[in-house]
Amino acid sequence: MENKIVLITGANSGIGKAAALKFATEGYRVVMACRNMVISNAVRQEIIEASKNVQVDLMELDVSSFDSIRAFCSAFKAQYPRLDILIHNAAYLNHGEKAFKLSPENIELSFATNTFGPFLMTQLLADHLEKSQDPRILNACTTNIKHFFDPKRKIDFDNLQGELLGKQLNNAYTMYGDSKMALLMLTFKMAETLKPHGIKVNALQINRVKLSKETIRKMNSFWKVLAWTQNLTNPLPSGMADNYFHICTSDEYKNVTGQLINHKRQIIQPSTSEQGFSQVKNIFGSGSYPNYATDPINVKKIWDLCISLTKTG
Ligand SMILES: NC(=O)c1ccc[n+]([C@@H]2O[C@H](COP(=O)([O-])OP(=O)(O)OC[C@H]3O[C@@H](n4cnc5c(N)ncnc54)[C@H](OP(=O)(O)O)[C@@H]3O)[C@@H](O)[C@H]2O)c1
Repeated sequence: MENKIVLITGANSGIGKAAALKFATEGYRVVMACRNMVISNAVRQEIIEASKNVQVDLMELDVSSFDSIRAFCSAFKAQYPRLDILIHNAAYLNHGEKAFKLSPENIELSFATNTFGPFLMTQLLADHLEKSQDPRILNACTTNIKHFFDPKRKIDFDNLQGELLGKQLNNAYTMYGDSKMALLMLTFKMAETLKPHGIKVNALQINRVKLSKETIRKMNSFWKVLAWTQNLTNPLPSGMADNYFHICTSDEYKNVTGQLINHKRQIIQPSTSEQGFSQVKNIFGSGSYPNYATDPINVKKIWDLCISLTKTG
């Protein structure tokens, strides 16, 4: 196999770490893009030993910071001839967090990390992806966007830069779901704009996976207990890492773009009805996603906001 290059953000923990191991074991050149270099370097050594592949590199990246993304992308382009696979895996969610946290550019932290960061990275790396024979991007989404089956739910576009700071209680869980909904909407638009360049963009709807000790340690006591309890039955990250690998490398997905794929590797569709029994199926099943995500007005709003905040227009 030729040495394909895969870039995974947040590859020091959970699904990202399992994915780095999977790609390395399969002989890919893996670039782990992480923010904590001490912890991540130890993880890199672990992956090299377990995979017997020395082509596992580590680069510093804080996905919530536009400056860090810009520096990272310049360094990446200087070091590698092209990019074959880009996996936006890193995410911010601190269950139970009450404070409204802002990124270095004063953007709400979930949106900075989970939406605007991946957008800017994609914009800056698109020309490098274009040099690949089969470039693919995967966005890590979540079943939490299902809360958008709530008819009243909408992204609070007017509160993404701390406009309501101190006037409204922050709900980290809601912000996380909203930022991932925005990432799904970007997936559709990115797929459209990158299609002429041969770059495929899809999203994976991740349902539930065991959380790492490090991630649980950051939670407050209530969420810690809940997370440990859920971990008793949640599957290992390796299963979801296999999904990352399959979507980004298999012939089955070679020509698939602009889709949301569920944990069973099925391409899923927006709901056709959000009422009555259909809605029960939408919420408890895994075969549909809220049609809020396909509303062209919402998609344009988040796309335009991405361009203006990242100054990439
Ligand atoms: N586990 C689940 O049940 C589940 C369900 C639905 C969706 N997902 C999605 O799956 C993906 C992986 O989640 P996981 O469960 O594997 O979580 P995890 O173990 O907590 O991993 C998240 C990773 O993102 C990194 N990260 C967070 N903020 C960052 C930043 N600003 N810059 C760079 N890296 C940053 C973390 O680095 P640090 O170690 O430095 O914090 C960590 O490596 C996420 O996108 C998540 O939303 C997971």
